[in-house]
Order: sequence, then structure tokens, then C-alpha cells
Amino acid sequence: MKKKKIRKQKIIYFIGVSSIIVLIIIGIIWYFSWMDIELVIKEVEINQEVKISDITSCSHGNLLEPDKFIDTSTLGKKDIEVQCKNFLGYVKTSSFELVVRDYTAPVISFPEELSTTIGTPIDLLQGVIVSDNVDSDVEVFVDGEYSFEQKGEYVLYYVAHDSSGNETRNKFILKVEEGNTMKTVNGYSIVVENGVTYIDGVLIVNKTYSLPADYGNGLTDEVSTAFQKMKDVASKDGITLSIISGYRSYDRQNTIYYNYVQRDGKSEADTYSARPGHSEHQSGLAFDLNSLESSFANTKEGKWLNEHAYQYGFILRYPKGKTNETGYIYEPWHFRYVGEELAKKLYNDGNWVTLEAYFGINSQYSE
Ligand code: DAL
Ligand code: ZN
Repeated sequence: MKKKKIRKQKIIYFIGVSSIIVLIIIGIIWYFSWMDIELVIKEVEINQEVKISDITSCSHGNLLEPDKFIDTSTLGKKDIEVQCKNFLGYVKTSSFELVVRDYTAPVISFPEELSTTIGTPIDLLQGVIVSDNVDSDVEVFVDGEYSFEQKGEYVLYYVAHDSSGNETRNKFILKVEEGNTMKTVNGYSIVVENGVTYIDGVLIVNKTYSLPADYGNGLTDEVSTAFQKMKDVASKDGITLSIISGYRSYDRQNTIYYNYVQRDGKSEADTYSARPGHSEHQSGLAFDLNSLESSFANTKEGKWLNEHAYQYGFILRYPKGKTNETGYIYEPWHFRYVGEELAKKLYNDGNWVTLEAYFGINSQYSE
């Protein structure tokens, strides 16, 4: 009886121990086969090169496609699936939300220092280029206070924002300086703006003062209007006026001048034809009327112009006997617009004063 009891106890003991061992083995197997997939990096930059293995981790297993690239070409939330496989061959799949963001601010390329003279505004955004990794057209603006009317060294900022709110601020300096206050011998101010010389506000082009090659694009509206007015009045007096040569580009003048040089030689051509960049025709303020013959002075049209052109703001630009001042022989057909007030002064009751004599400047080539 006692023996039977002992045997029963042994069986129970054996079952108990076996169960515990089985449970421990199951526990060990479960522990080592249990996989935890985690999204380690939850936000990435747009267009960043990101592989599954860069942003996830898998404990107790291996990622199935560790080198697979994630599409980061668009902003916003992105659903990604990650698979992990353990040593028993079991595959676990987890889904995550990855956020693709734009952390990169626009890049502004800009001049660090700009300068101008008082009263001469310049476009502060000229030469400024802004680029961004996402937005194709990011606007840039100037932040800070400045005045083109006041001398100063202004500290300003170019600012650009992209659509994700990233901001770039770049400091630059605007210098507003006193203008070049050169004076002619008669005391008139000489101002050079973009390569164009103004004396007392009047554009001057002669053998001394030239125009940039790209200057001019036809007669100015003011000149065309004044000419039309003069032409209409002249026609009532029985005088017909017609422009035979108005605006001439630098290139056109180049052709004309060198044709004359070929025909007559340089020093002769220089007495009646301007070198390219030195012709008043390029200014859009001058024209030749009716005839290029010196006898034009004696025609009724030539005489009418000599007496009346100033009333419409035109001057006889190269008067007789003034070659040493203007640098050119008498041209009874060439008229230049200067406005009625100055034209009246230069008409001088029929005894023409040249622009050179009036302002106190010369007309000579430097070489
Ligand atoms: N004939 C004038 C000087 C010119 O060529 O512009
Ligand atoms: Zn002319």
C-alpha cells in the first residue's frame, strides 16, 4: 500500500518537473523568436536617400529588405511596411507612418554690398537669385529701412521663405553716397549715370563724351511730339519738313563712320561724321532734316528752321564757324532737342551759341 503511494508521488513529481522544463523551453523559444519592429527615425528630409535599415530596427530577427529605398520625393505622411524574419522563419509585418519634411531653407545668392549716389535709386533685387530644394519660385524681399535720398550705410537683409516656413536672412550693405560733383569750367554740374553724361541735366554726346554701345532705341517720345508740332506749323507756312536720318544705333553709326573713313580717310571723316558711340543720333534726341547739302542753309526750309526750330525746343547743333567748339563742320540740317527754355538761350537771337560754349566743355577725341 505504502509502495503504491510512493510510486504515485514519483509520477506526479515527474510530471511536474517535466511540465516546468517544457514551459522553460517554450519560454526560451518564445523569447528568442519574439520580434519587435521599431521605427527609430520618424521624420526625414525631402529627397533624402533613406533605406529601410536607416530608420527601423528589428530585435530578434533580420529585416527582409534592409536596402530598399523609401520614396521621399513628396512632402507629408507616408505609410511604410517593414518585414522582419526570425530564425524560425517566421515573418512579422509592421506598418508605420513616416513623415517627410522640408527642413532646408532657401539659398540666396546676392551681392554683399551695393552702392549708389544720393537721388539715384537702384533695384536692390537686381543680381539676387534665390533657389530652394522644393519650391521653384520663392520670393525674396528686402527687410530694413533705407532711403536713396539720404547719405548712409544701411544694413539690410534679403529674406526668403519657402512653403514649409523655412526662412533665410542674408545681411547686405547699401551705401548711399554723395554724387560725383564734378563741374564744368562754367560751373555746371557733370553727372555720369550708367555711362551717360548729363551736364546741368542735359544729355551730352560729342567727341569728348560718348554713349554706351547699347544706349538708345529710337527717337524719344518728347522729340517725336515736338517735331510733329514743328512740322505742322511749318507746313502752314508752306514748309515741308522730313526726317532723313533720326535715331542711329551704335552699329549703324559704326558702319556709316567707317564707310566715310574708307572714302575720305580718318581725319577728314572726323570733321563731319561721329565715331560710333559719339553720335548724337544715338541719343534719340537729334535728327537730320530734308537734305545733307550745305546749300540747304539757303533754302526756304533751311532758313525757316534756323529761325523757328528753337521755338519747339530744337537747336542748330553744329552752327557755321563753330567747328573749334563742336568739333564738326557746319550742318544746317542737324537739329538737337534740348527743350524750349535752353533752345531759346542758345538761339541767342539768331547768333547760335553751341552747347560746348554754353556749358564750358570741349569736344575732342582723347586719341
Ligand atoms: N554728322 C554728325 C556729327 C554725326 O555723325 O553724328
Ligand atoms: Zn546729323
